[in-house]
Amino acid sequence: MAVFEKLPRHVAIIMDGNGRWAKKHKMKVAMGHRQGTETLRSIIRESSDLGIEALSLYAFSTENWKREAQEVEALMGLILEFFSSEIDELDEKNVCIRILGDKEGLPEKQRRALYEAEERTAANTGLKLNIAINYGGRAEIVRAAQQLAQKAAAGEIRPEEITEEMMARELYTRDLPDVDLMIRTSGEMRLSNFLLYQCAYAEFMFPAVLWPDFDLDAYHEALQAFGNRERRFGGR
Ligand code: IPE
Ligand code: IPE
Ligand code: MG
Repeated sequence: MAVFEKLPRHVAIIMDGNGRWAKKHKMKVAMGHRQGTETLRSIIRESSDLGIEALSLYAFSTENWKREAQEVEALMGLILEFFSSEIDELDEKNVCIRILGDKEGLPEKQRRALYEAEERTAANTGLKLNIAINYGGRAEIVRAAQQLAQKAAAGEIRPEEITEEMMARELYTRDLPDVDLMIRTSGEMRLSNFLLYQCAYAEFMFPAVLWPDFDLDAYHEALQAFGNRERRFGGR
């Protein structure tokens, strides 16, 4: 078991590179996504074993609907498969699952599986596992603004008294700490609309490996590098 001096409380990962991995191996893109779920399993397990508090994974963005129907279908199928095959073990490991994003915009079967996973693991006190599905960071912020505006209109709060903490409490990540470490695989260096509000002071890492090739050594390397970063939060 690897030992780390200073672990991030909240790790976020943009799991990118499945398409390129499939291409490299002359396979269909769906096979890249399938291989990607293997990485997903091992990273979740390791995060839980290491005692990381929260892990947020970007699985499907609001922009990913633009992809070909066949690929979207393959991804939706994998989401279903993932939850039915993993839920027992995750529950056993005391993992608490939360979906970030708009479940109402998903097909019925997926929606039901996600609600079930959340309900079944709601009282678990181990790793807080957030899976972003049909998620967009701007949409999340707009939704939070609407909820605060409704409270103001109802006379429950005064607009000038709205604080950053109140805003944060309306996000999907409501009770979780800000992201400490943001990892995006595949060498792309952008956020692609993931956790915009929560990443204000995150440390960013962009390992050059494709997501299906992101193994525990690569994960440990990122965690180790995080421990060596000097975080100042604007201070001296
Ligand atoms: C990331 O892999 C997974 C999802 C977006 C669901 P990609 O499919 O984006 O892989 P690349 O970027 O094409 O290699
Ligand atoms: C971000 O990756 C979304 C997920 C990993 C789920 P994309 O591959 O969709 O992002 P862009 O299009 O390269 O920015
Ligand atoms: Mg991509």
